[in-house]
Amino acid sequence: MRPLVAGNWKMNGLGADLAELAALKAALSGRPAGCDVLVCPPATLIAKAAGQAGGAFAIGAQDCHPRASGAFTGDISAEMLKDAGASAVIVGHSERRQFHGETDSDVAAKAAAAWRAGLLAIVCIGETSAQRDAGTANHICGSQLDASLPDDAMAGNTAIAYEPVWAIGTGRTPSDGDIAAMHAHIRACLVRRFGEEARGIRILYGGSVKPSNAAQILNLPEVGGALVGGASLKAADFEAIIRGVKVQD
Ligand code: 13P
Repeated sequence: MRPLVAGNWKMNGLGADLAELAALKAALSGRPAGCDVLVCPPATLIAKAAGQAGGAFAIGAQDCHPRASGAFTGDISAEMLKDAGASAVIVGHSERRQFHGETDSDVAAKAAAAWRAGLLAIVCIGETSAQRDAGTANHICGSQLDASLPDDAMAGNTAIAYEPVWAIGTGRTPSDGDIAAMHAHIRACLVRRFGEEARGIRILYGGSVKPSNAAQILNLPEVGGALVGGASLKAADFEAIIRGVKVQD
């Protein structure tokens, strides 16, 4: 399984910031990455970013509407994202769940839309600090996973991002043991539902991944990559995180 390191720019980035992608491309052409690399800029930059990347890394989106087209002012469909040059879309990020009231069933509909358009769906789950303190993190993540994934999840069309809400943008991360335990739990849930196929679904860790902790986190068992927020905005930091993946001989 080739790991995936994905950057989520969130609501950051103007045209001038495409220079970071040019720098990333230059760095990766000098020394290839040991993983798949994806950058998810705001929707306004997807087409330009895809042109800039020129296939050196993939471009993704941060959300999509479940329907392919229609009277949904302000929304963007998975087909439109694909048309603009995206090959993946993040669905169910905790910021969408929190600030836009997205439910697990909304997220499942968006994942299905991503597949319909031929995009990789990166489905996000994660517990709050209160839920972790209450000892319910496994239960919460297991039920989010179950209800946020439609029935046809496969290794080629789905990645899971485990992002503890309390670790996002805070500089705090779970212990190595807690990350490994949650990823093992997620793998067990996936295999129970989808069978052996699910062993190839990548489970990314997200939440305060930075150059100083990336290699350690990326080499934990069942960690198939990372979903990186703030540290993906600067090419140098993002490249340093990508280098945390050991290149296989
Ligand atoms: P940070 O890396 O800024 O903590 O954000 C994580 C995240 O939410 C990625 O989707």
